[in-house]
Amino acid sequence: MRDQRVWREVNRRNRDWLRPWEATIPPPTPSGPIVHRPTYRQMVRHLRSEANAGRMLPFVIEYQGRLVGQLTVAGITWGSMCSGHVGYWVDESVAGRGVMPTAVALVVDHCFRTVGLHRIEVCIRPENRPSRRVVEKLGFREEGLRPRYLHIDGAWRDHLVFALTAEEVPDGLLGRWHRARAQATPPAKPQNTQGNPA
Ligand SMILES: CC(C)(COP(=O)(O)OP(=O)(O)OC[C@H]1O[C@@H](n2cnc3c(N)ncnc32)[C@H](O)[C@@H]1OP(=O)(O)O)[C@@H](O)C(=O)NCCC(=O)NCCS
Repeated sequence: MRDQRVWREVNRRNRDWLRPWEATIPPPTPSGPIVHRPTYRQMVRHLRSEANAGRMLPFVIEYQGRLVGQLTVAGITWGSMCSGHVGYWVDESVAGRGVMPTAVALVVDHCFRTVGLHRIEVCIRPENRPSRRVVEKLGFREEGLRPRYLHIDGAWRDHLVFALTAEEVPDGLLGRWHRARAQATPPAKPQNTQGNPA
């Protein structure tokens, strides 16, 4: 609850950035319930009660000590499935620095090694290139298309499904992501005695 002011400020600033990818409430059907967009308090209460019931793992993401986003493992199913799906967003002002792949890798390792889940899924609109890059860079497997899967930005939208099972990351996803990143980054140029690039 203490994050309310900062969360509201970040969300207000990022309204246009998030809108194309944000879940929306479908128009009510004659026999269905009327659902309203939750307030911040209602959202926190919902996250807490779902977490207490073992169905959700809600996280905020901090970058340099500042709240910059959210990552939620939702729809956790136990029994013969042991699976959950991940949703996420970051503040546009920190986009492109690898914040989300790092957050997803941390959470996947936590889910597989500590929580005991077996499968993690991410569903992404085909046109969301930045989000597809996140799962591509982390080596998620593409499983296929779910037509009209979720109500996003005012309509039922197709989603691509990406997944990982615990067997695919025996040594952890964070380590694998760090190694891949280090290989992709060219070594720093040698410096001369004045500290300038040689
Ligand atoms: C998808 C998202 C979470 C990625 O987070 P991130 O921390 O920026 O991830 P990365 O740093 O790995 O960048 C991913 C891609 O975003 C693109 N990107 C980089 N800088 C960017 C910027 N300033 N603005 C927009 N996109 C940018 C690049 O294509 C990058 O891929 P690359 O590393 O191959 O160049 C973020 O773009 C976001 O919150 N978008 C809005 C909400 C959303 O789409 N949520 C996911 C719904 S499935």
